[in-house]
Amino acid sequence: MRKLILFAVVSGLVSLGCDATPPPEIVFHPEAVVQAGQGYPNRSDWLVVQPPAAVPPAWNTSGYPPVRSLELGTGKSPDENQIRILKPEIGKNILNPADKDALPAADRTAVSKAVDQLFGTPLVPIVPAGKNSAAIEKLHLDSATLAQGAGLYRQWCISCHGPAGGGDGPAAATLSPPPRDYRTGLFKFVSSTPTLAGKPRRADLAKVIRRGLDGSAMPAFPKFSETELQAIISYVLHLSLRGEAEFTAIKRLIIAFEDADPPAQEVAQAAEKALQQWLDADTQPMIAQKSETASTEPLTLVNVPADPATTAEARLQSAARGYLLFVEKSGAGCASCHVNFGRTQQLKYDAWANVIQPRNLFLGLYRAGRSPEELYSRIYVGIAGTGMPSHRQLVEPPAPDGTNKIWDLVHFVQAIGQPAQRAALQARFGIKWE
Ligand code: HEC
Ligand code: HEC
Repeated sequence: MRKLILFAVVSGLVSLGCDATPPPEIVFHPEAVVQAGQGYPNRSDWLVVQPPAAVPPAWNTSGYPPVRSLELGTGKSPDENQIRILKPEIGKNILNPADKDALPAADRTAVSKAVDQLFGTPLVPIVPAGKNSAAIEKLHLDSATLAQGAGLYRQWCISCHGPAGGGDGPAAATLSPPPRDYRTGLFKFVSSTPTLAGKPRRADLAKVIRRGLDGSAMPAFPKFSETELQAIISYVLHLSLRGEAEFTAIKRLIIAFEDADPPAQEVAQAAEKALQQWLDADTQPMIAQKSETASTEPLTLVNVPADPATTAEARLQSAARGYLLFVEKSGAGCASCHVNFGRTQQLKYDAWANVIQPRNLFLGLYRAGRSPEELYSRIYVGIAGTGMPSHRQLVEPPAPDGTNKIWDLVHFVQAIGQPAQRAALQARFGIKWE
């Protein structure tokens, strides 16, 4: 019952902003909504292997993510414009696993079999150790933990994130942004190094689950016990590893077929590589300094250096420096994406070919948390899968005068989200907002 109420609240919130959207006429991949106890659905939807460089013509219609429109084809989706823009990507950056000319049926079946064998079923989920049994222990991927996580996932997450973590549960149809599809192995709000391909630390996932993502349908789950939370995280890892192994094997068999090994070997290699990346991400946080707040704030992940500005006046001065970094061509380059501070529509496709917009910073609403430490870590790390790059070079090496350009940007971002602070910057430094 609690779950139903939660959904009602959540979907109510989400539908506020998009009153003109028609009810969804389709449920994606209904065959994917399996009963627990059966195997996982094998991948039938299309793969986005590179974010399309084309500019989206518009936001997609609710219930029709762009790739879904492409799959449905002309005449079956209201978004003909998305189909037109994305069509040239088919066979290059967007792949159809059911295209028998690209992937022979025997290979596709062999991939599915290998994935099922390695990763088990929703009731008996497994993560294969390969040569890396240490990773299983360190990342808590033993079968008892996974089975517990799977049960909780079915109760709390499956309706949005889908049975195999494809972001295609029955409640997903109208959500914008859509629930994360874990099967690329890529997550947005991470605090590990960008060289680790968007793999989060377990602590990143803990934070997203505990706090939710503001401005999206992702709810906060503050009431899970620590054991339950850790089990769910393990299961998200399982789904992601499984999905990525399947994804990578299909991708290589289609676009790198000359170099590709037999399907089962491709699956096993991809699984092993992804597992190592998860382990590396978990053990290599981005910032090495000790956090002052770490002991009182257990959810702080990136250890952020102490804020050098300790008075309101120093923060205002810092925000003014941040403004210049934000807007100037020779600065940090933020304004090239966040045009007019994010108020001008500047649509992009993300790594899942979903339509995104660089955040409108006037709103002061951030998905992954509003604390200054959180904003620091977003700017330092970047946002995987969206094109927003890491800006760590701004503070490495540290400035000899003790200033910190990322803190300047944080103070600016904080100020711009508040009318009184904007007025203060205008009055003191002549910054114009129009
Ligand atoms: C009502 C729908 C809904 C439910 C239920 C839901 N999620 Fe989400 N989840 C979302 C949406 C939407 C996003 C994407 C938000 C975005 O892109 O900013 C998301 C994103 C995520 C992410 C990605 C974070 C990142 O850094 O990329 C994780 C992990 C996640 N959810 C885990 C869970 C888990 C675990 C549960 C169950 C305990 C759950 N979600 C339940 C809608 C939901
Ligand atoms: C290449 C384009 C690009 C550049 C450059 C860029 N951003 Fe972003 N930024 C984005 C996109 C896209 C999003 C929204 C991502 C999403 O949620 O899918 C975003 C989101 C954000 C957010 C919101 C984070 C949250 O938790 O919701 C902040 C804050 C932000 N950017 C600040 C900055 C700052 C400061 C700079 C310069 C140092 C910068 N961005 C440079 C594209 C960019």
